Amino acid sequence: MAKVRQKPNVKAQKSGNKLTEAQIAVHWKEEEYFRPSKRFIAQANLSDPAFVKKFSEKHFPECFDHYASLLDWDKPWRKTLDTSNPPFWKWFVGGKLNACYNCVDRHLAKHRNKAALIFVPEPEAESATVITYQELYKRVNEVAAMLRDFAGLKTGDRVTIHMPMIPELPITMLACARLGVVHSVVFGGFSGEACGLRAADSGSCVLIYADGYHRNGKWVDHKASADIAVRTATKEGQEIDKVLVWQRYPGKYTSDSPMAAGRDFFINDVLKNYRRQIVEPVSQDAEAPLFLMYTSGTTGKPKGCQHRTGGYLAYVIGTARYYQDIHPEDVYWCMADIGWITGHSYIVYGPMALAATSVLYEGAPQFPDAGRPWRIAERLDVNIFHTSPTAIRMLRKAGGNEPKIYNYHFKHMTTVGEPIEPEVWKWYYQVVGKGEAVIVDTWWQTETGGFLCSTKPALDLMKPGSAGPAVLGIYPVIWDENGHEVKAGSGNAGNICIRNPWPGIMQTIWGDPQRFVTQYYKKYNKNPKSKNWRDWPYYAADGAVLPADGYYRILGRVDDVINVAGHRLGTKEVESACLTIPEVAEAAVVPAVDEVKGRVPVVYISLKPGVPTTKAIEDKVTSTIETMIGKIARPKTIHIVPDMPKTRSGKIMRRVLAAISNHMDTGDITTLANPDIVEQIRELVQGRNVGPLREGPEDIKRFGDER
Ligand code: PRX
Repeated sequence: MAKVRQKPNVKAQKSGNKLTEAQIAVHWKEEEYFRPSKRFIAQANLSDPAFVKKFSEKHFPECFDHYASLLDWDKPWRKTLDTSNPPFWKWFVGGKLNACYNCVDRHLAKHRNKAALIFVPEPEAESATVITYQELYKRVNEVAAMLRDFAGLKTGDRVTIHMPMIPELPITMLACARLGVVHSVVFGGFSGEACGLRAADSGSCVLIYADGYHRNGKWVDHKASADIAVRTATKEGQEIDKVLVWQRYPGKYTSDSPMAAGRDFFINDVLKNYRRQIVEPVSQDAEAPLFLMYTSGTTGKPKGCQHRTGGYLAYVIGTARYYQDIHPEDVYWCMADIGWITGHSYIVYGPMALAATSVLYEGAPQFPDAGRPWRIAERLDVNIFHTSPTAIRMLRKAGGNEPKIYNYHFKHMTTVGEPIEPEVWKWYYQVVGKGEAVIVDTWWQTETGGFLCSTKPALDLMKPGSAGPAVLGIYPVIWDENGHEVKAGSGNAGNICIRNPWPGIMQTIWGDPQRFVTQYYKKYNKNPKSKNWRDWPYYAADGAVLPADGYYRILGRVDDVINVAGHRLGTKEVESACLTIPEVAEAAVVPAVDEVKGRVPVVYISLKPGVPTTKAIEDKVTSTIETMIGKIARPKTIHIVPDMPKTRSGKIMRRVLAAISNHMDTGDITTLANPDIVEQIRELVQGRNVGPLREGPEDIKRFGDER
């Protein structure tokens, strides 16, 4: 076993009653380290410590030229980084390239017959489909021709794609990239309404759908949500000209929703007119937007993170090469959904730019049983595996010994999206990875394009529960609320920020540059006129702690975002949905700890005068949230309360509700306008017998502080 020495515990440091952000003592046991195997080190892409030095601050920003040089450029860049208009950085200025060319065409010479995508349908009776780079090239070209000539899309247009995990999703994305059409992929599990709002925000005239898909043993009629999306977009003032529908089984329509004449078209049919067409990849400016990815923030409206072509692609190919350790001969399986940033960066763009073989699985990890992922791994000889703590917790709970039954061997595994408990990490390492695979715990965000913190798989020791040091070319800092640095080894938590720009950072929020500045840069910027990047640190809205060993441990969001099963949910979005119900007077959404999903949303509502408390109202809240956002936002519990705990100025104290839902100390409530309500709510939620109070995690302790 590759365990190394034990570190001393970090001592809690409390001072007085009221703690500032930086004084919050973090109680956690330092974990022992694990060492990567010699076998892994011997074959790793990143095994030379001298290479790491090239990314030290004195080599910034030119250190990132190396990542860009892994791509094929039509025209080389003149300047690595232009900081003349902070924080709107420009990367690889003057360079031109095409993302689709880099992920497909350039691999034909050497890897024509290599599997690019291996699609695994959810029903086990259906065999996997292999798409070689050659076939991918042909299919992407035909789709690009159709998007250009039939759908009328041109460079710079936006298109909204609402699709499940089928190969036609990356094919459509790559076809867009070929044309310079900006794709906005909406996670398949979001509702039609959520898709329509995003389509309207991005100004998409074309929606791309699939008729249906398999999920958890059920057939999901997906096209039905296209009709809702069109209605919603139209209501928002955005006309949708065409809905293009992929058939999950070509030639067979599997949805009950009628096809609207003149608006809805089966792609399979239309494509017949575009057979054998080749579309020249459009040479794009490095700064041309490649895609939008909507994510939740502190307001009710999701924001479209706009990612650039050159910098983004350079960052994901570099990090996929050195942190995912992808070689062309590897079989790489990232079990995330392409509808999230993980799927964009580390299923599609990063791995495919490296000519990887990428596995695409349609269904639920536990279908039909918890052995499914390991059967897939065995059958396809997957050797790099990538998933989230929620999936790991689920698989551990449902079949803790299943991996032992199957003869697969991973060399490398990733965990991403939420903090992973050391116990869960150890199961992942020992049982899933069979003690052979190296693990990287990668911390990053939709906004950041790629990894920010992770161990270097062959060079660093692993520490369960900690993401690790910053990745190459990233220089983080932890600050308290007043901008004082929280030093390594202090045992205190603070706000993690990145001091420098990097190529993967989003360009802006689509259509809202001001929000981009206020959301991510205002907090620690001291001089808004400064042209020096050092004055523009990126505020990540995550709490973190840094022990003396330099391994960042991410504690979770410090804003109104709840991380549910590794997916970001804006509490304001859920609250806004509740407030559309006529009977509801007030709504507050707070996170509760969940054994499997990490956090789940709990909804508190108060009703308008005279409205009786009924089960029907609860059902209405659930169905409204599902319709407006999607099933992923379904609350764990709904509490109908007589009133909300409020400050004298009428602000709902969500912190108090979060404490009640998690059996934590509600803290000082004497300043509330209505302190008596707290006990009433507590009894309603917990009953008469109060159990022992729990310590509670940092993100919940601080939840609502910022409002
Ligand atoms: O709170 C952090 C958490 O997920 C948030 C970003 O979510 P999203 O934009 O959906 O991207 C998820 C995939 C990159 C972060 O603000 N998070 C992400 N990775 C980790 C994490 N928390 C702890 N450890 C991680 N490795």
